[in-house]
Amino acid sequence: MVRHMRSDASLARTVAFPRVINIEDLRRLARRRLPSVVFAYIDGGAEDEVTLHENVRAFRDVAFRPRQCVAVPSCDLRTTVLGTPLALPFMLAPVGFCRMFYPRGEFYAAREASAAGTGYILSTFSGTRLEEVREGASGPLWYQLYVPGGRAVAEATIARAKAAGFGALVVTIDTPVAGLRERDFRYGVRPLLQGNVWSSLPHVGQFIRRPRWTMDFIADGSPRVFPNVELPGIGAMPCGDVGGLLEKTLVTWEDLRWMHDAWKGPLIVKGVHTGDDARRAIDAGASAVVVSNHGGRQLDGVPASIRALPEVVTAVNGQIEVLVDGGIRRGGDIVKAICLGARAVLIGRAYAWGLGAAGGPGVARAIEILRTDLIRTMRLLGCDSMAKLDRSYVDTPRDWTA
Ligand code: GLV
Repeated sequence: MVRHMRSDASLARTVAFPRVINIEDLRRLARRRLPSVVFAYIDGGAEDEVTLHENVRAFRDVAFRPRQCVAVPSCDLRTTVLGTPLALPFMLAPVGFCRMFYPRGEFYAAREASAAGTGYILSTFSGTRLEEVREGASGPLWYQLYVPGGRAVAEATIARAKAAGFGALVVTIDTPVAGLRERDFRYGVRPLLQGNVWSSLPHVGQFIRRPRWTMDFIADGSPRVFPNVELPGIGAMPCGDVGGLLEKTLVTWEDLRWMHDAWKGPLIVKGVHTGDDARRAIDAGASAVVVSNHGGRQLDGVPASIRALPEVVTAVNGQIEVLVDGGIRRGGDIVKAICLGARAVLIGRAYAWGLGAAGGPGVARAIEILRTDLIRTMRLLGCDSMAKLDRSYVDTPRDWTA
């Protein structure tokens, strides 16, 4: 641990009830600790951020149909995803650059997921070695694959993830180029990632205004490499800039074949919006799909993930499992997604704000908020188990595909 850093107990106090009641409170605290550029990276979406906001708003179109006068003394939140038992119906989504949010961020996020009995998905764009993340986490871990270094480099990482005991490979398919994330440009994400002093100068004020983050970042070694992308003759790939990296990670349906051959285990396709692509993913051998618009960070103007979920669930017709991410801020959102056919959901910003606000204890608090939301929602709904949720517990607008 970096010496000047605060203890877990002290961090936990900063996010304790009632200072932090909901996920939005964690977002507010993350904004206070992080320089604008890092907060903007987590918070922002592409172009006009229509999809970003729609992801959250569309949950309001789904209305509950509770069963009253039902005693729910205890509530079973457990589920399985690809045969893996989880204590909670949500996992932690792959989020890039977590080490910018908090020193060894990926290590702490994975550790807290395990402590809560759920799984963590490590992004290729991570600053912590996958073996180190594995050592700190006793629960399920999956590896999210981008291919910025090309096929051979990715195959080497896949072998490492396999050897370290990661249980599934999550291939993101929605990044033929980077979405235009305007906030990243305004606050200087590229100079920060490149560590370029001259081009950082116009943005330097934000670091001075956030001395605690700045000290943490420096004490953590100002990490600007991806240690899970080993370039031959160079070593860990430099972060460079987000746009340039995403542009190198185009994945086609044909690529899934070599990824499958290299991984030889369950492969999950993340970034599906339509029934047609869900069926293509099944044909390509996927064990599950994630209905996802990358948190509104890629193609602006696609529908909210929860809106796209019913079409995908219908198309998949029980052949493989369907997960969903995007816009989840409350346990009630998770219940709605499961009612509409998701096996489980992935949370991204909800825990990233926690990590940015208070490291591991911030992530633990995000998980705890959603867990208590889930129990309360299920009791109010009159349902005692995730496994019993179905469409009869919700109403959706008439034009949503059945
Ligand atoms: C990385 O995956 C990002 O969306 O920034």
